[in-house]
Amino acid sequence: MKNIIITGGAGFIGSHVVREFVLQHPEITIINLDALTYAGNLENLKDIEKYPNYRFEKADITDIEALRRIFEKYHPDAVIHLAAESHVDRSITDPMAFINTNVNGTANLLNLCKEFWDLNPEHTHGRFPNKPRKNLFYHVSTDEVYGSLGEDGFFVETTAYDPKSPYSASKAASDHMVRAYGNTYGLPYIISNCSNNYGPNHFPEKLIPLCLFNIIHERPLPIYGDGKYTRDWLYVIDHARAIHQIFFEAKTGKTYNIGGFNEWQNIDLIHELIRQMDAKLGRPEGYSQKLITFVKDRPGHDKRYAIDATKLNQELSWKPSVTFEEGLAKTIEWYLENQEWLNNVTSGEYQKYYEKQYHS
Ligand code: NAD
Ligand code: DAU
Repeated sequence: MKNIIITGGAGFIGSHVVREFVLQHPEITIINLDALTYAGNLENLKDIEKYPNYRFEKADITDIEALRRIFEKYHPDAVIHLAAESHVDRSITDPMAFINTNVNGTANLLNLCKEFWDLNPEHTHGRFPNKPRKNLFYHVSTDEVYGSLGEDGFFVETTAYDPKSPYSASKAASDHMVRAYGNTYGLPYIISNCSNNYGPNHFPEKLIPLCLFNIIHERPLPIYGDGKYTRDWLYVIDHARAIHQIFFEAKTGKTYNIGGFNEWQNIDLIHELIRQMDAKLGRPEGYSQKLITFVKDRPGHDKRYAIDATKLNQELSWKPSVTFEEGLAKTIEWYLENQEWLNNVTSGEYQKYYEKQYHS
């Protein structure tokens, strides 16, 4: 492979995926294609922007002509697709933005792959398992497509889709489109569905970075409902490593769940953040507990997510490189050292969103 387009490379997870590929593959040109929405920030890639195998193209995936120009310029061998509207709360207030980017934008990319790649409908997955791979569409998706779990059980790759929010429905729709293009046109694809990520570059509208930011500034920590909702957390660099490994080692037509078997109820997670942050900031133990504020619940809030990543572990020997304790400590250190980044991304448009979300 000579050229790989990574969409959404200026965002949280995308920036770590771009870095992983740029550093590990000097022989491949990595094209970061991103519209730079409120969630995209080229500062996330400052350390690698001068590497000879890195390129940036500003484009909106809803604009097929802009995408076509980029495909004509680079003739990509593969696309790793992360660009998306990613915040569940925003999907509740503005679902159309999610349908436009996550569904229509993904369809635009699929159509261009179909246009530029020599696809053969006879080569649908499984029929030629040992055929060397020329092209690949790698779709980065989420565990939220599976819906919500009760007290027990895990999401496995064969769990039926049951998305509950406009965000997860838009991601489910895009997963279905990817598989449909594989089945109908022979598009070589891989999909991975990952649990909640945390780590550097995480936009502070999401629970962990929002609470880190608010603890620093002694602002309220908004906990939805009773705080007894469960999420399964994975360090973002472990997700990027998994994508890299799956991209090069997995067979096309496969799906992998990615997760670290690391479930936390939101309220317990916040207590842990407070414990570590108060210690780091030299505050008395438990000082920031007073900031915990129970607020109105998210409509249709999914109760529990938990990923079973056994298949990825058994087939590709992938496992997380850090424990949650180590990952959280690294994350806290990063946010404390990068307060300028935090101040930059939380000014302007985000500030208006925050005020509306939490003070109206
Ligand atoms: P993010 O919101 O931090 O970044 C999204 C990136 O996509 C930004 O750089 C943004 O500028 C870009 N983008 C948005 N709309 C675009 C458009 N129309 N055209 C081009 N670029 C556009 O998101 P993230 O948390 O890094 O998530 C990346 C992907 O991973 C998403 O597809 C998401 O569904 C998936 N995912 C996220 C998580 C998580 O915990 N954050 C977990 C599993 C899967
Ligand atoms: O599971 C993967 C998904 O994880 C990704 O697909 C999404 O892109 C990503 O945003 C994330 O979705 P969540 O809704 O789980 O993440 P969020 O950080 O928004 O919320 C985590 C939990 O914390 C959830 O139960 C809602 C709750 N919450 C969130 C916020 C922002 C609060 O209690 N208070 C808050 O202020």
